[in-house]
Amino acid sequence: MQAELSPMDKAKFVAASRAADLVEDGMRVGLGTGSTAAWLVRRLGERVREEGLKIRGVPTSSRTAALAREEGIEVVSLDEAGWLDLTIDGADEFDADLNLIKGGGGALLQEKIVATASERMVVIADAAKEVAHLGRFPLPVEVVPFGRDTTEALIAEMLEAMDVMGRETRLRMDGEVPFVTDEGNHIIDLHLGRIGRPRQLAMILNQIPGVVENGLFIDICDMVVVGHSDGRTELR
Ligand code: 5RP
Repeated sequence: MQAELSPMDKAKFVAASRAADLVEDGMRVGLGTGSTAAWLVRRLGERVREEGLKIRGVPTSSRTAALAREEGIEVVSLDEAGWLDLTIDGADEFDADLNLIKGGGGALLQEKIVATASERMVVIADAAKEVAHLGRFPLPVEVVPFGRDTTEALIAEMLEAMDVMGRETRLRMDGEVPFVTDEGNHIIDLHLGRIGRPRQLAMILNQIPGVVENGLFIDICDMVVVGHSDGRTELR
């Protein structure tokens, strides 16, 4: 299977496979969203079928829930599982402090809730996701549809007050209509270029009425498994 993969997919695949080995019998596992997390779910499915691995999976999106069921993984809600042993998820960017930008796939809200409810969060990523400073990837902010334009204007005002480098805000679209998250919300992507003070930005964003959550994951990730296209993996 690996021989047919593009270099990028190979990197994602090896990172996901190494992280899948961290999962032990009886664990309650948060299952991330995105193309890298999909490799993880497939690998865990193989382990369930071939080794009889018994886990309860808490998916972070409807997409991941469907894939996990297809793979024969027992799917439970976060409230049924309670505290989780481990969450494994992808990321759009990570820095040397293991702070992350997530939400490129639009699942940041459930992803942050699940990761925060976990003893340990492990990120799986190809090497291109490692950055010196967060912010090249647009920062997703989930907002309620009510008063969305007002919320966007307040975000823009706050970015100006904080003197953030780039300040463009863009409503995420799904063709002709706004993208809708699993929770029925919209996403505004912030094109910032470089985020100087991620912790402060994350806190201030969540104080704006209408903002549900932002894609900055600060002090949540414990380890990153970095995958390379030549098949190597490294731990951060
Ligand atoms: C979804 C996410 C994903 O983990 C992130 O976008 C990375 O995706 P991929 O593994 O496809 O590169 O945060 O909301």
